[in-house]
Amino acid sequence: MPLISILPSAVADQIAAGEVVERPSSVVKELVENSIDAGATFVEISLEDGGRKLIRVSDDGSGMSAEDVPLALARHGTSKIKKASDLVGVSTFGFRGEALPAIASVSQFEIQTAAADGEGSSLRVTGGQIGRATQVARRRGTTVSVAQLFYNVPARLKFLRSARSEWRSAVESLTALALTKPGVRINLAHDGKGALMLPPVSSVRSRLGAIWGGRYAEDLLDVDDVAGPVHTSGLVQRPADVGTSTRRAFLSINGRAVRDAGIGRAVEAAYRSTIVAGVRPSFFLNVTVPADTVDVNVHPAKAEVRFRDRWTIERAVETAVRRALGNFDSAASLGFRGSSFSFRPVDIAPSPDSEILRPAPDRDSALFQASEDTDAGHEYASQESTTEVATAAQAIPPLFQLRHTYIAFEHEDGLVLIDQHSAHERVLYEQFMKTLESGAAPAQRLLLPLTLHLGPAEGEAFDANREYLERLGFEVEGFGGHTLIVNTVPMPHPRFDAERCLRETLDALTGDRVAGAAAKHERLAATVACKAAIKAGEELSQGEMRSLFAALRDTILPAHDVHGRSTIVHLTWDEVERRFGRR
Ligand SMILES: Nc1ncnc2c1ncn2[C@@H]1O[C@H](COP(=O)(O)OP(=O)(O)OP(=O)(O)O)[C@@H](O)[C@H]1O
Ligand SMILES: [Mg+2]
Repeated sequence: MPLISILPSAVADQIAAGEVVERPSSVVKELVENSIDAGATFVEISLEDGGRKLIRVSDDGSGMSAEDVPLALARHGTSKIKKASDLVGVSTFGFRGEALPAIASVSQFEIQTAAADGEGSSLRVTGGQIGRATQVARRRGTTVSVAQLFYNVPARLKFLRSARSEWRSAVESLTALALTKPGVRINLAHDGKGALMLPPVSSVRSRLGAIWGGRYAEDLLDVDDVAGPVHTSGLVQRPADVGTSTRRAFLSINGRAVRDAGIGRAVEAAYRSTIVAGVRPSFFLNVTVPADTVDVNVHPAKAEVRFRDRWTIERAVETAVRRALGNFDSAASLGFRGSSFSFRPVDIAPSPDSEILRPAPDRDSALFQASEDTDAGHEYASQESTTEVATAAQAIPPLFQLRHTYIAFEHEDGLVLIDQHSAHERVLYEQFMKTLESGAAPAQRLLLPLTLHLGPAEGEAFDANREYLERLGFEVEGFGGHTLIVNTVPMPHPRFDAERCLRETLDALTGDRVAGAAAKHERLAATVACKAAIKAGEELSQGEMRSLFAALRDTILPAHDVHGRSTIVHLTWDEVERRFGRR
């Protein structure tokens, strides 16, 4: 007698179920995917006891004819593909013909379905044993009931969590699906009570609003970017909001909800220098890639995909998100509602007779460029300023300084406030990063070198960062022990106090254990930028404000400083009018 025997199909189904059906949420996912694949416009889900007692999914999709029902319950029974090559670019969620037999093998299962109104059939399966089909009268569509999940698999049953946590997991799965199909009406009930009612809508933003509230959805930023064959779209959190609420990360690839740690990291990388380390942004993104560059058949629950060229996709996602963060409307706002607000104020056209709009580079406007000014605390050798004032071509609106801290201006869409310190910090950070990467520092040679006596910790911080500090313009001779002679310093603005900046920077870097050149660049650029930037409370001239405005406008991420705070806040006219009772 041979030692090898073929397993009965009920056993094989149960084994397959071990991979496909992990917990009630897997059943919810598979059944709702089937409904959507069947073209449903309305899916109704009801759970009892977190899905442990009952999961019922009803849809108004295509339904099945009486002859198809037993086939749907047979292993490898599928209407979605016919041959292996159909797998490439398969547009339905399902393709293996495994889900229904797997679920039916570990539950008390019932399906009622009709391909046309009035002519339905019903079939029960108990622990994989298929009963007799009967005729029922029902509307077109399908209802699947899964009762007592894992009743015949005690090992699995033991691993089910509390009703509460199974419920939470089911909601999470359903939410992921609901975000990929905003046009499908979805209702979810738990223990007879309505829990989620999602009307059909045309955008992911509206769907998010229906799930977590309009306010939450409105505060998200649009992402929409094509890089070669990769299209990234959806919504992400404003940097200023990151860490203030539950983190939510939803990703789909070609419309299929999946997890992908690499893409998650790419999204986080896009936020670098706008949020503090350790907090993670929420995102709701779909990435479209050519069908033949992604394999969807690599995970038993279809929760992951494999890319042929992961690197390109991750870079495209990072760029897309970064671009979204670079928009002016990524700034914090009061009553701002995502209109097409642009930092480049197109509405303020330079008019020939308007004095204030005419670009007039004065002495002050070189403030945020390399400067030859000498009225700061130290004396500088004169030096040719080669940097052109880049603002000449672009109009700058009239600017007003408030409390010696904020710069206010009027915009077509509202009133805008810039925090002068945060803004300058952003400008300097990007300049310093460029300098650190290219190695060209516009340093000023001091006529009288500075002498600094450092404590041992600061001395160590200096030694660890010497190379980078020199690239930024601090050229230093060691004087023995921890006395430094500083010959040249960077010159971010005329009131720059080089000695204080260097001391504070070394103090901030004390005990720093950042490894890797890129991370060190970022750390140092952020630290020096913070210490070197003009402070709140400093009075600025018109010219200084204008050049700060222009320099900020030219940064990559103008709306965020390096600590995750906003550089810009705006108050829309809408909001102003609402507050004055004008609307
Ligand atoms: N709600 C439904 N409405 C209409 N037909 C359905 C429904 N659910 C299942 N079917 C039919 O039953 C078949 C088997 O479903 P099942 O979920 O087992 O496999 P699949 O969706 O084809 O692939 P996968 O195992 O990857 O989900 C489907 O191909 C479809 O033809
Ligand atoms: Mg399926």
